[in-house]
Amino acid sequence: MASPLVLSFVTTAIVVAVVPAYSLPTEAEALLRTGWWSSNGGDNTWGHCIWQGISCNKAGSITRIDRHGAVGSGFFDKLEKLKFCFPNLVYLNLAQFVVNGSIPPQIGDLSSLEYLDLSYNSLTGELPRSLGKLTRLKELKLHDNSFQGSIPMDWGNLKSLMSLKMMSCNIGGPIPYEIGNLKNLSVLSLTKNKLSGLIPSSLSNLSSLSVLYLDSNLLQGPIPHEIGNLKNLQVLSLTRNKLGGSIPSSLSNLSSLSLLYLDSNLLQGPIPHEIGNLKNLKVLSLTTNKLSGLIPSSLSTVSSLSDLYLDSNLLQGPIPREIGNLNLRVLSLSNNPINGSIPLEVFTCPSSTLDLSHNFIEGEIPHRDGNCVFVSNLDLSHNNLTGMIPDIFEAVDTVNLSYNSLQGPIPHYLIDSFGPDSFRGNKHLCANLPGFCDCPASNKVQIAKTIIPIVGILALLLLGCLLYFIFKAKDNIPESNVTKNGDLFSIWNFDGRIAFQDIIKATEDFNFRYCIGTGGYGSVYRAQLPTGKIIALKKLHRREAEVPTFDKSFKNEVKILSEIRHKNIVKLHGFCLHDRCMFLIYEYMARGSLLRVFAGDVEAVELDWIKRVQIIKDIASALSYLHHDCHPPIVHRDISSNNILLNSNLEACISDFGTARPLDPDSSNQTMLVGTYGYVAPDLSDHRSFPLPQIVEIEQKSEDPHALISLKGFCEN
Ligand SMILES: *[C@@H]1O[C@H](CO)[C@@H](O)[C@H](O)[C@H]1NC(C)=O
Ligand SMILES: *[C@@H]1O[C@H](CO)[C@@H](O)[C@H](O)[C@H]1NC(C)=O
Ligand SMILES: *[C@@H]1O[C@H](CO)[C@@H](O)[C@H](O)[C@H]1NC(C)=O
Ligand SMILES: *[C@@H]1O[C@H](CO)[C@@H](O)[C@H](O)[C@H]1NC(C)=O
Ligand SMILES: *[C@@H]1O[C@H](CO)[C@@H](O)[C@H](O)[C@H]1NC(C)=O
Ligand SMILES: *[C@@H]1O[C@H](CO)[C@@H](O)[C@H](O)[C@H]1NC(C)=O
Ligand SMILES: *[C@@H]1O[C@H](CO)[C@@H](O)[C@H](O)[C@H]1NC(C)=O
Repeated sequence: MASPLVLSFVTTAIVVAVVPAYSLPTEAEALLRTGWWSSNGGDNTWGHCIWQGISCNKAGSITRIDRHGAVGSGFFDKLEKLKFCFPNLVYLNLAQFVVNGSIPPQIGDLSSLEYLDLSYNSLTGELPRSLGKLTRLKELKLHDNSFQGSIPMDWGNLKSLMSLKMMSCNIGGPIPYEIGNLKNLSVLSLTKNKLSGLIPSSLSNLSSLSVLYLDSNLLQGPIPHEIGNLKNLQVLSLTRNKLGGSIPSSLSNLSSLSLLYLDSNLLQGPIPHEIGNLKNLKVLSLTTNKLSGLIPSSLSTVSSLSDLYLDSNLLQGPIPREIGNLNLRVLSLSNNPINGSIPLEVFTCPSSTLDLSHNFIEGEIPHRDGNCVFVSNLDLSHNNLTGMIPDIFEAVDTVNLSYNSLQGPIPHYLIDSFGPDSFRGNKHLCANLPGFCDCPASNKVQIAKTIIPIVGILALLLLGCLLYFIFKAKDNIPESNVTKNGDLFSIWNFDGRIAFQDIIKATEDFNFRYCIGTGGYGSVYRAQLPTGKIIALKKLHRREAEVPTFDKSFKNEVKILSEIRHKNIVKLHGFCLHDRCMFLIYEYMARGSLLRVFAGDVEAVELDWIKRVQIIKDIASALSYLHHDCHPPIVHRDISSNNILLNSNLEACISDFGTARPLDPDSSNQTMLVGTYGYVAPDLSDHRSFPLPQIVEIEQKSEDPHALISLKGFCEN
């Protein structure tokens, strides 16, 4: 049973045993002096030929030295320790042998050498010019070292060279023109260096070239037109350089090309129509350039294409529907100014990744009954897609529809599978989730299930609100005392014209179509009353209404706002407070919040400094009123650009009094921190004692452009 093991041990033992160390031939002596072979040499012409990694010819002269991967033996020793006196050496492989120092010029004496591999070492220094003397060399691997300087011109004499691999070895300078002399070169990889200057047009003379990697360098200038001569090229990667100009149409003559990577350069102009001639192309990556014009429909004739990356360019126009005829695995067109709609053909089987995000695509998400979508990763975010979400995403792994103009309910299984973040930023999508407008009950089965309680509640509500409204109207007291009726739903008559049923009618029972935004809590609806008057409604979602703090701040807002009146404080026209129905009715502020205005490119510019100063005056006036004219004084405690609303004349109003409170001067000076951190008065966020509110006066004629910034500072102290 143990015999194979014993046998192999015996063989090794014999090798070691037969080694007296005298009268070695010169070649063996050269090996021995390195110290990389232990003195297990031979005592005759043949002895060293059985050392590890050594082969000899019939005459006992060394033809192969292969110590690759023998990490340790030459560990951080100088390569020059190996005297290069091997006239018959054909093969030298010291890859991962971890030698350091530079390549000695004597390497040029290895006149028979056909294969040289010094990759994965710690070699430094300049590349020796003498290496160019190795005219029989077929393969040269120097990658993964830390050389200095550039590729010597003399290497243009390596006439037999078929493969040159010098990735990640820290070489700089230009690619020598003489490289065009290496007529038999089939593989050239100079990836991840610091090569600069132009791609030499002489490269086009390398008629045997099948693989060319020049990526991750500092190459500049155009892609030479002559590159179209490389008829045997199968792989071309020029990724991550600084190449400019346009994509030469001559590329279309590279009829063997299978992989083409030109991404992360400065290429501009259109994608040449002729690219459709590359009949063997599998991967085309033109990502992150400045390519413009249309996506050429000729791409649809490249039937072998599987991965198409055109993202992060300036490509315009519609997605050509012919592209849908391809069997693409990946189609990435994100971050372009592409417009038009998504062609059904592009959307259907069997691609696995479809990324159309960050474009200007409009129209509906296409679908055809019974037509599967086999896309497994779908990103349509940041477009302007409209319509409902079609029911086609069951087999999809990831989906992102955020930041579009989609509408209607989000199917439950989608939220469960992909989370709410995949749907945000669609104003008219609804779901019973924080951050989304409530869905109206639409499903017939659901209606049937819930019709009795809903009708009951609505009837009660309507009756209650109406009674209250009539009662109040008769009383002719516009302000209601909420503390007395705090637990009841209330609505008061505004100019005798707002009634509960008007609101239900105007919003079609809070249909999501009328939802204009969602806040920290609740949704805001825009409603046009029968009189033509437009109002804003803030409604708590059912789930949120159950959160005591929301409920409390809602009631607080009613209490405070019903007691104060100022032209720069948002007007509360009415409210309805009840377990099942909580909404506040405000005047409609057409321009929305200051935050929103600042976020808009056009609107922010329109709001020049003069207007901004006016807004500050408006707010100062409102705060002055709250602090000095109200008894007891009221502190807002959450002045932020989100809570400042602008009407169509850009007049500002303070809103959101959910956390405001009257200040009882006799009570303790300590207060709990509420509101938006960063906007509350500094005294509060520092947890220091709270002083009596004192407004900092703003100079009447101030046109200081920084005035806006001081808004943060002066808010409440
Ligand atoms: C070779 O590496 C060793 C160990 O890191 C270092 O001490 C030595 O200076 C290096 N020699 C050269 C010539 O870089
Ligand atoms: C180039 O390759 C061809 C075909 O493999 C061969 O016949 C020729 O000798 C090579 N040329 C040189 C200079 O090695
Ligand atoms: C290609 O090689 C021929 C000779 O073999 C030479 O005349 C010509 O200039 C070379 N072309 C380039 C672009 O280097
Ligand atoms: C492709 O090569 C042919 C000759 O082989 C040439 O006539 C033609 O102009 C080339 N096409 C392009 C677009 O460079
Ligand atoms: C797409 O954009 C182009 C250029 O901006 C414009 O001419 C064209 O009308 C747009 N097409 C659609 C469908 O919006
Ligand atoms: C989105 O489309 C709608 C209607 O088609 C249009 O009113 C709106 O301006 C578009 N939005 C953007 C950002 O293009
Ligand atoms: C969808 O895209 C948006 C915006 O780019 C991003 O915030 C969100 O995290 C994405 N959702 C998912 C599920 O990846």
